[in-house]
Amino acid sequence: MHTRIFLIGFMGSGKSTLGSQLARRLDYQFMDMDQLIEDTAELSIPEIFQEHGEAVFRKWEHDILLELCSRDKLVISTGGGAPCHSQNMDLMNANGCTIYLSLSPLALQNRLIRSSTERPLIKGKSETELLEFITGLLEQREKFYEQATHSVNGISLRSEELAKLLLDS
Ligand code: S3P
Repeated sequence: MHTRIFLIGFMGSGKSTLGSQLARRLDYQFMDMDQLIEDTAELSIPEIFQEHGEAVFRKWEHDILLELCSRDKLVISTGGGAPCHSQNMDLMNANGCTIYLSLSPLALQNRLIRSSTERPLIKGKSETELLEFITGLLEQREKFYEQATHSVNGISLRSEELAKLLLDS
């Protein structure tokens, strides 16, 4: 069993919810990268984007990831863009097991409609704009997500299934 399990995937794919459940099952510690960035900066993600810009957020995201790679027995929920910047996908694959939670643009839209204000990249978008945005960005990001050790269908996924996948591999 790998000592670091990274859950990757688009916003709304269930990384944080499943990650905390999986950590409990494996008796690993759960780490939410966005939460760690917010705690360190003492700012919310929207405030970081607004006050410092996305480039600074990506730098902090990479720094947090580097730090997590020196710690053991962790399940890490990564931000949706993390695998697509600063060679983070290579870093995660070299330091643990990556699991891509895959969902269709429509399924993601359904989940994200309710949480668009907490996420600066989708804030203020209508339902149609949101679907177009997800479709376009997912297409760009999939080449990174698909480098994961495992890809799983994120619909109705249970932490039990993830634990089994890890134990069987
Ligand atoms: C982002 C996803 C967010 C957060 C930030 C940027 C992205 O994390 O890191 O708003 O680029 O997709 P979640 O995937 O946890 O929503």
